[in-house]
Amino acid sequence: MKLNIDSHGLQAAIDELALISEAPAPAVTRVLFSPEDLRARAWLKARAGEIGLAVREDPVGNIFFHWTGSDAAATPVATGSHTDAIPNAGKYDGVVGVLGGLEALAALKRAGFQPRRSLEVIMFTAEEPTRFGLGCLGSRLMCGALSLEKAAALRDPQGQSLEELRDDAALRGDLTHVRLAQGAYSAFVELHIEQGPLLEREGLPIGVVEKIAGPSSYRVRLTGEGGHAGAVLMPERHDAGLAGAEIALAVEHAARTSGSPDTVGTTGVFRQEPNAVNSVPCAATLEIDFRDTDHTARTAAWSRVETDIEEICRRRGVQYKLEPINSEAPALCAPELVQTVLSVCKDLDLPVKQMISRAYHDSLFMAQICPTTMIFIPCRGGVSHRPDEFSTPEQIAAGVEVLAQTLAKLAGGA
Ligand code: HGY
Ligand code: MN
Ligand code: MN
Repeated sequence: MKLNIDSHGLQAAIDELALISEAPAPAVTRVLFSPEDLRARAWLKARAGEIGLAVREDPVGNIFFHWTGSDAAATPVATGSHTDAIPNAGKYDGVVGVLGGLEALAALKRAGFQPRRSLEVIMFTAEEPTRFGLGCLGSRLMCGALSLEKAAALRDPQGQSLEELRDDAALRGDLTHVRLAQGAYSAFVELHIEQGPLLEREGLPIGVVEKIAGPSSYRVRLTGEGGHAGAVLMPERHDAGLAGAEIALAVEHAARTSGSPDTVGTTGVFRQEPNAVNSVPCAATLEIDFRDTDHTARTAAWSRVETDIEEICRRRGVQYKLEPINSEAPALCAPELVQTVLSVCKDLDLPVKQMISRAYHDSLFMAQICPTTMIFIPCRGGVSHRPDEFSTPEQIAAGVEVLAQTLAKLAGGA
């Protein structure tokens, strides 16, 4: 089936959405349930309405754009991604999968295609961890990877709860209704920028994901003794900030020496108090992101970090509290879906690379309830989570075409 992807209109939509941001262009920041996130959600719903899709929003703000198939009783096929963005991010991460998913359905409609299975584009709530320190909030609740008790205990840096934020966002309903049944979809395929350099380096337009790295993250609260920067002599100090600095270096060392090339460790959040130039830091809070595609290697490397934390704090006379935030095993994508994407790429005469995803995505959790894979497109220099993140309209259009043809194959129909 010949499709024409409205690449120009899609790029215009990506550019328009990027302007709904807490940060000035070219940066994009859109944090869960911020005024800008809410405006972006409204903008998206209006856009989906233009394509003739039914719109449903669940109690935690996952939004479902639905095209009813000829066999409405058949298990639907889904695609989707996220539109929230970490501080000072780019305009393609997640957005390509949501707006590209909507364009894939619009292109199929324009071609007169009628799916047998219903098709859905999902905009997942809070794929990014910015608000609560926990990523994939919407898809975790969908697949039961986050208990309602733990969801209720979430607090953002201002102390706000998920309940309060849902209230402010006028989201009603019980969170139990977010949960989807096992097999709720017959397939889930997410389009996303690679957030890595391989496709561009190898000159390939498409990647298909066979495995998604398992993320883990931890919060370390350090309590030392503060005091006057002039009065407290060095031998008497219990500097929580320096303990944190040593821990951040220990994280880097453990990742570099794990024996696995895919172990990555990042101390992305490092706050110290009172954060005054002439006061010895009395407290520090670190949030550490630690991942690998190899669960055993990640676990072994992380246990070395825990040993280091204990030794550093004992030697410095600093108290510490280590709080695991999340820890997931890597996800294997469905081989049959990988084959479907490979055959679509062959039909389209598009070279394709079978690869792993080092970033996590909502697909990591959708894989717990249905067969899942991802389609990657190149991004310039592999850069992401930065304002200079970039994919060309042609690269995006190729990804959308592969997605549309894949969805058509999976949905059946004519
Ligand atoms: O951090 C990640 O891997 C994703 O971009 N949230
Ligand atoms: Mn991201
Ligand atoms: Mn993403």
